Amino acid sequence: MDQVRWGVIGAGGIADRRTIPGLVTASNAKLVAVMEVDPAYAERLRSKYSAAKAYTNAAELVSDKGIDAVYIASPVSFHKEQALLAIAAGKHILVEKPVALTVNDGLEVAEAARAAGVLAASGFMMRYHGFHQTMKDLVHQGRLGRIVSVRAQLTTWYPEIQGAWRQKLALSGGGALMDMAIHCVDLIQYVLGSEMESVVALAGTNTFAYEVDDSGILLLRAKNGAYCTVEAFFNIPDSAARNRFELYGTGGSMLAEGTIGQEEGGRLEVLLAEDGKAYDPGQTRVDVTPHEVELLPGNLYRKEIESFSTSILKHTRVEVPLEEAIQVQGVIEAAYKAAETQRFVHLKV
Ligand SMILES: NC(=O)c1ccc[n+]([C@@H]2O[C@H](COP(=O)([O-])OP(=O)(O)OC[C@H]3O[C@@H](n4cnc5c(N)ncnc54)[C@H](O)[C@@H]3O)[C@@H](O)[C@H]2O)c1
Repeated sequence: MDQVRWGVIGAGGIADRRTIPGLVTASNAKLVAVMEVDPAYAERLRSKYSAAKAYTNAAELVSDKGIDAVYIASPVSFHKEQALLAIAAGKHILVEKPVALTVNDGLEVAEAARAAGVLAASGFMMRYHGFHQTMKDLVHQGRLGRIVSVRAQLTTWYPEIQGAWRQKLALSGGGALMDMAIHCVDLIQYVLGSEMESVVALAGTNTFAYEVDDSGILLLRAKNGAYCTVEAFFNIPDSAARNRFELYGTGGSMLAEGTIGQEEGGRLEVLLAEDGKAYDPGQTRVDVTPHEVELLPGNLYRKEIESFSTSILKHTRVEVPLEEAIQVQGVIEAAYKAAETQRFVHLKV
């Protein structure tokens, strides 16, 4: 077998906007079936991507013997049930973030996958951004010295929309923090190579009238000692967004702009300090022209599908294991608790 045969559950949202277009260009993947609740919509998507089958319920799709792996991109409240169905049918699963409504639900899914011997990954596709991988490499090579400060931002404009599942706590598990800060926490941990140790947070609904948070800021301490800030807002216009990702170390700094998002774009600047620079009471800033890093063109979703397909075909390590996504979700759950109690929450080690 040189191609993984994929089925997609919840094919009409991000799957249609980004992931299926990535999947159909992947070298080692083939789209076999799509599932949407509405039959006409399912059929439209099947036809759009020339898939063999269109299903209207998840149980039917997962019992298709022509499918090896299932991508689950339905509203969050369906993830657990649909992932368990796919696992029971012996399919490998790629589940969108957050893995399930709660960490405990996610752990059930991960345990079921382990017991069934299927591979399980999560949709933190921003790890595949060439700039984020460069940032990780530079940190690991020690080029920035010891990282002392990190900041990551992800914002969008998300007003009240009638019937939107994301705006209902029982269907989404949370607002800006659960939906967007989660990507930032994952990226910071990925680049730092260190998990979070403690968090304090502000989370509230400051602009819109829905029940989930539209505004959130996390202050975190990583196990390696770095202090981190995450900003997630549903109330900043997309045309005003910066989506910055900044790291500062004892030997240099990096600023990425426009890289935290759905496209492999933006820019990355690196500033490395001169060796042996002594304390300068005048704090003179000489020659601060940053080095701008070049980026090869790429597609995050194609890379995501190719990476998981390679893990299935070649039995290689899963790039974004479900367990790591559940740990990140644990940080978000802790942040909500911290916001509610107005106290630091220490994460379990
Ligand atoms: N990684 C990313 O880039 C990214 C971006 C956006 C969303 N997401 C995640 O993807 C998931 C879906 O979000 P979205 O923005 O695509 O939402 P969406 O509402 O745009 O799309 C969800 C789709 O699921 C369908 N659906 C509804 N009920 C269903 C059911 N019972 N079974 C199967 N499908 C059903 C809907 O008809 C819709 O087409 C969420 O987990 C979200 O966090 C990830």
